[in-house]
Amino acid sequence: MPLTTENLSYQFKSLHEDPAAQALAPLDLHIQDGKWLAVCGHTGSGKSTLVRLLKGLLTPNTGVITWGGETLGDNRGTAIRQDIGFVFQQPEHQLFEATIAKDLAFGPKLFGFSKTWIEERQSEVLTQVGLTPEILSRAPFQLSGGEKRRAAIAGVLMLQPRMLILDEPTAGLDPLGQIELLDMLESWRKETGATIIWITHDMNQAAAYAEEMVVLKEGHMLAHTTPYQLFMNEAHIAAASNLNLPRTAQLLHQLEKHFEQNIEADGLSETAVAAAIGKVVREEAVWEVF
Ligand SMILES: Nc1ncnc2c1ncn2[C@@H]1O[C@H](COP(=O)(O)OP(=O)(O)OP(=O)(O)O)[C@@H](O)[C@H]1O
Ligand SMILES: [Mg+2]
Repeated sequence: MPLTTENLSYQFKSLHEDPAAQALAPLDLHIQDGKWLAVCGHTGSGKSTLVRLLKGLLTPNTGVITWGGETLGDNRGTAIRQDIGFVFQQPEHQLFEATIAKDLAFGPKLFGFSKTWIEERQSEVLTQVGLTPEILSRAPFQLSGGEKRRAAIAGVLMLQPRMLILDEPTAGLDPLGQIELLDMLESWRKETGATIIWITHDMNQAAAYAEEMVVLKEGHMLAHTTPYQLFMNEAHIAAASNLNLPRTAQLLHQLEKHFEQNIEADGLSETAVAAAIGKVVREEAVWEVF
């Protein structure tokens, strides 16, 4: 379902003396169903404030949020609370039950799901996050860091969210663990058609996974665009927001200089950029023959 914000703003009480210093200045945003959206910006730019508002963890000072046409108020209905899943930074700190099985069952029990439903769903989510069922009987402290993170995300997936919000979910994982987690999220999104809203500081990863980006600076949205548009055509906005260029964008910029021409690519993933470079190199080779 599409999510829309209109005039959405937030100010922490301690910032009240300075009315200009809003954690989030009035924001109009439209997020289409099934998209992978990266929320980027320097530290303190308002990323966590924005996603917390979307989940209903903060109450906005102004504005409304609509989800599939329905306005999200303070008393969000059960369906909406289930619909939007939220993964904190280092979610494994929220694994508090004696076993992973109990932890996965915690949310669904609150929502009144049956034991059979919970057990079936447990095996589905474990497959989705790449864990085996034998993990169910283990205690959180018997898991590795990466396994704990997957188990915690599995807990959020139990309620079959239509939108998953993640605040820097790869923080503290080793490079391979980060890629595995993002690949897992991408498979889950493709399989379910759900939307992902993802805060990240890693522009290489944003270029590789995100279809759209929201760029925040001091609480203001500077851009809502594609990674390709931002880093190839609006690089001044990226620079003004202290975002470094992804490697693939750097490569394309260098090649454009070298060949003295625009190189169109179908995105900034390595695959898209390799295809664009291949095309230019082939064309150059043909010209050399003549
Ligand atoms: N609990 C709070 N009380 C007062 N001010 C806060 C609080 N939390 C955040 N702020 C301020 O609100 C602004 C936006 O903070 P926010 O946490 O949304 O930033 P962020 O973009 O998520 O940063 P980071 O990348 O460091 O996580 C900052 O100026 C921050 O200092
Ligand atoms: Mg934050």
